[in-house]
Formats: sequence, C-alpha cells, structure tokens
Amino acid sequence: MIAGEREPLLAGKKIVLGVTGGIAAYKAADLASRLKKEGAELRVVMTEAAAEFVQPLTFRVISGNPVHSRQFEEPRVWSVEHVALAEQADLIVVAPATAQIIACMALGLAPDLLSTVLLAARSPILAAPAMNTAMYFHPATQEHLSILRARGVVLIGPDEGGLACGATGTGRMSEPAVIAAAARRLLALSGRLAGRRALVTAGGTRERIDPVRYIGNFSSGKMGYAVAAALAAAGAAVTLISAPAALPPPAGVQFVQTESALAMREAVRERFAASDIVVMAAAVADYRPETAAAEKIKKSGGELVLTLTENPDILAELGRRKQGKIIVGFAAETEEARARGAEKLKRKNADFLVVNDVALPGAGFGVDTNIVSFLYPDGTARDLPLMSKKEIAGLITEEIVRLLPNDNKSAKENENE
Ligand code: PMT
Repeated sequence: MIAGEREPLLAGKKIVLGVTGGIAAYKAADLASRLKKEGAELRVVMTEAAAEFVQPLTFRVISGNPVHSRQFEEPRVWSVEHVALAEQADLIVVAPATAQIIACMALGLAPDLLSTVLLAARSPILAAPAMNTAMYFHPATQEHLSILRARGVVLIGPDEGGLACGATGTGRMSEPAVIAAAARRLLALSGRLAGRRALVTAGGTRERIDPVRYIGNFSSGKMGYAVAAALAAAGAAVTLISAPAALPPPAGVQFVQTESALAMREAVRERFAASDIVVMAAAVADYRPETAAAEKIKKSGGELVLTLTENPDILAELGRRKQGKIIVGFAAETEEARARGAEKLKRKNADFLVVNDVALPGAGFGVDTNIVSFLYPDGTARDLPLMSKKEIAGLITEEIVRLLPNDNKSAKENENE
C-alpha cells in the first residue's frame, strides 16, 4: 500500500454474493464491482434464472473467480462446494433477493446451489429484496420476511420507485451503494462490541389516567429496536427496555417490557451499573397524571380537569452518574432542532445526541426512515440525509465503537473489581 492510501475497508473479507432472477440482477454487477473495489474476496453464486438476466461472464470478470451456478453441473465439485462457500464466507449478500429465494430461506428449502449455500451458512446474511409490489406485500412474503428478520438476517430495502412491470411502488432493489455500505458496516462492526453490555430504551411510554385510558405519544419503537439490533449484531449483550410497541423484539436481545416512564426508569436503574453503553431512544412522557383513577372515569356532562405532575428525566439522571459509560440520547424536536438539541445534550451530559426534527416528512415517529444529526459536546455536528432507521442505527453503533475506551474492560468487570 502506498503511504497515505487508506486500506480498502473489506480487505481480506470473503463475501459470497448470491444473485437471483429479477431485473435488478443487472444492478448486482455494480454491487459486485463496489465490493471488489473495497478489497473483498468475492465469490458469486447465481441462480439459473439470474443467469438468464445477466451473463455469468460479467460476474466472472468482476470477481476474478469462476461463477457458481448449476448445482449438479459438476457433481464432484459442487458436493463440497456449497459447504465450502458457506463455511468460508464472512458474509453472504443476496441481491436481488426474489420472493422465491426469500421463501426458500424462511422455510429452509434447498432446491438449488444458492439456497443450499444459504442453508449451510454460518456467517451473517444480508438480503436486498426486489420484486413486484403485490408479491412484496403478499402475506406469504411478509411472513417469510418476518421470519428472516427474527433470525437476524439483515434486510435492506426494498425501495419505492419504477418497477420492471411498468408500475410504480415498493419493490425496487436498494441502490448498490447502499447495500455495499451495509455490507461494510456489518463486517467492520462484527464482534467489535463483544463483551460489552448495552441498554437500549424504545417506544412511547403510557401514563395511565384510569384503567382504560392513558396519555401516550406516537413512537412506534422502530428507531430504538433498530439500535438494539445493530448493537447486538456488533456483538454487544443488549437489553432492550421497551414501552408498548407492536414490533417483535430483535433476535438475540434480552427484552424487558415496561409501560410508564416510572417503570422504565426503574428497569433502567436496575441495569445501569452493569452496562457499558446506554442509548435512550424511547419517547418518555415528561408528565403523568398526578393520580391514576382506580375505576374508569365516568362522563359527568361537564369539563374534566387532569392535573399532571412532572416525570423524572431518566437520561439526565444517568448523565449525572456516568462512570465512563457511553451514553447516547435522542431529541425529538419540532422547531429549532439544532439549538434545542444542543441545550439537551449539555443538560443531560450525553456523549452525543441524535436530534430529529419530527415535523419533517420521512422523519421521526412511526416511519421506517429518519433524518438526524449527531451533536457532540464540543459543539460539532454531523448531519445525515434521509436514511432508513436501520442504517442510522448502524451509524450510531459505529460512533459508539469509536467512542468506547480501548481498555477492553467491561462495566461488569469494573463492577466486580
Ligand atoms: O419510535 P419511532 O416511531 O421509531 O420514533 C423514533 C423517535 C422519534 C421516538 C426517536 O427518534 C426519538 O427522537 N426518541 C426520543 C424522543 C424523546 O423523548 O425526545 P425528548 O427530546 O423529549 O427527550 C430527550 C431525551 O431524553 C431522549 O433520549 C429521551 O429518551 C430522554 N428522556 C426524556 C424525558 C424523560 N422524562 N426522560 C428521559 O430520559
């Protein structure tokens, strides 16, 4: 390497790229080229249908390796090849991933070489679904995708846009640059948080008015759940403390269900000392009814006045007894996001704060995407464009890895000393 040149980010990493039969197969050539340029040792496995869309020779030239395709073409070689490919891979990327391969992966079917490699895989798997909108939203495909998500397969996309069938809708494969960035992150972060304990809060707290009513907010939990999944993928032992949310807990994460701000505070306090990392993505109610009625409040024909009392600020409490932990806060703002975020960062003593202007389209509550800035105590900021919450969670994880002291001592070890 010439002095001053940076080492390719995927140098020495063995990546298997699985290409299936959709029109987006041509974009997989761009993806292969990006992975190769980053230094990956690339092996391409194509389904027979994919080879109808793009000549295997294209991938052979880009990867510099023979392309694997027909399972029974050279039985003596393939009988070991699928296992060897699966065993040696640091990462398997399936792009485009058709409804068919997604079904095979979910159900453990292995009718061809690629599905056989996937069934034998031990490495992380990243898949970029691409198909017609109706196929994507079909309950069967959605169930298969949920199974894969729960197993820890990282799904990128699909995006909205023009489709091969002429229609516009959800089903377009994510751009090769986005998939390559996700692959880089997965490999770069893999194992980097091994031995570390992380606490993540998510969802919107509910403050009871009576047994059937509450004061709540629009948080779906998507942002916090994505952070929990990303930290777990990087090797951390993650506890996700969640207010009610209609999402399955990410695979491999210890899950604690809470409801109110006070209950969340209790759950966080119990686990704080043994944690190295805390990310407060939950939308915690600032106020709760002074008293929750024991019985359902009846209509009286007149006004009903609720007296609210202030909840404790969990993040600010943690910030006061930080003890070398990495603490990340969020700020949900609707105006002057940067200035208000900076004020919260200081007051809550976090290592960095993720600010979202929740009034912007595509940002904040409920949606799969967000627009955030990272604010740092030295007054600097990093503005990010519209991205999926999963991508933002990956960047938050990268930032935490960067900030963690390198003494390799976990909070648990320090606690036991
Ligand atoms: O769940 P989603 O639908 O995906 O939406 C994501 C999100 C918008 C909820 C998320 O991105 C977000 O901004 N979370 C923080 C929401 C919030 O409570 O912001 P805040 O500005 O009110 O609070 C600032 C910080 O203090 C937050 O880290 C919050 O968790 C924390 N806090 C707030 C109040 C309180 N009593 N205790 C706290 O710890």
